[in-house]
Amino acid sequence: MSETSTVARWDESPFVKACRREPTEVTPVWLMRQAGRYMPEYRAVRAKVSFLELCKDPALATEVTVTAAERLGVDAAILFADILLILEPLGLDLEFAKGEGPVIHNPIRERTHVDRIQPLTDVAPLGYVMDAVRSIRSALRPETPLIGFAGAPFTLACYAVEGGGSRHYELAKSFMYRDQGAWDALMERLVDATALYLNAQVAAGAQALQLFDSWVGNLSPFDYRRFVLPHMQRLFAKLTPGVPIIHFGTDTGSLLELQRDAGGHVIGLDWRVELDAAWNRLGTGVAVQGNLDPVVLFAPRTEIENQARRVLNQAAGRPGHIFNLGHGILPHTPVDNVVALVDLVHTHSQKSRAPG
Ligand code: CP3
Repeated sequence: MSETSTVARWDESPFVKACRREPTEVTPVWLMRQAGRYMPEYRAVRAKVSFLELCKDPALATEVTVTAAERLGVDAAILFADILLILEPLGLDLEFAKGEGPVIHNPIRERTHVDRIQPLTDVAPLGYVMDAVRSIRSALRPETPLIGFAGAPFTLACYAVEGGGSRHYELAKSFMYRDQGAWDALMERLVDATALYLNAQVAAGAQALQLFDSWVGNLSPFDYRRFVLPHMQRLFAKLTPGVPIIHFGTDTGSLLELQRDAGGHVIGLDWRVELDAAWNRLGTGVAVQGNLDPVVLFAPRTEIENQARRVLNQAAGRPGHIFNLGHGILPHTPVDNVVALVDLVHTHSQKSRAPG
């Protein structure tokens, strides 16, 4: 942190300014899963190592992060890692099985299992992530901010209880309904570990943070209030002050105000809501990120352009819009369309703000 001039360059980037709801010359854009299987450079690295090996190798994580950010010309890079990595030092046995996605071999199914989750007192077991943050930070252009991230406690708890992906979350939700004391204990452990982990990413060099609550849209507002909100508020209160935080979820049309009350400077929106209507509901106190449907990237170029313009028009040049998809880039997405989208956002957002 000795180079004040370099720090100032991140601080004045369109992405960080938009997080603070300051006006920017162009709308900043980055894309969830911008380093992923749709990109041939990523597949070439993955041909040599497993996904977990890639996450645990700071040099390779740096390569895929920086390659994606530079090839796309986006306004922010996101650390290459996974939300589930934190579950390993907490005592869960995580595997990314071929073609199956993540599997946890010793899921938390009852009250007594919660004690298997060890408090994380030291981030050393996740030191490879902080090494990657330091290495990415020094490899990135100084004006490109680096986003660190973690899974939000509800989404992590879903994986911990279900033992993998799920459609209805019946195991996680019935655990919650059956034994709120055990659920709260599980969430508290996840909150403490996540706060330590995110603050370590900031100390290692991340300029902003995103909390992925990808599956929280499965809850009713009534349940969000009881089982998630207090834990999220406790988590936000523990995070390093002054660092912009993006609070992301999907299918959260009925939860937006509650998510805003939980915390975060930027609220992530998916494509199931209209950006302008959602932002009006959230009010002027937060920025928004989103919200193009990732499947639009499979459409003809004219449709991509129309839809990108529609999102920009709905934001209407209000300070505090970060362009993104409503969820991650899908594996079969044509790379050229992704590159074109980033260009379109930059070109059209500049025009839409020109006087006259
Ligand atoms: O956005 C980025 O480019 C940064 C890296 C990143 C990954 N996962 C890489 C990844 C981030 C931010 C995540 C977050 C993540 N991981 C979430 C929340 C975001 C979301 O999509 O809702 C979730 C739910 C996970 C858990 C996870 N990781 C699943 C369910 C899967 C398997 C399904 C899939 O898409 O492959 C993963 C694997 C994963 N994480 C891949 C990547 C690039 C694909 C792994 C591969 O190379 O085969």
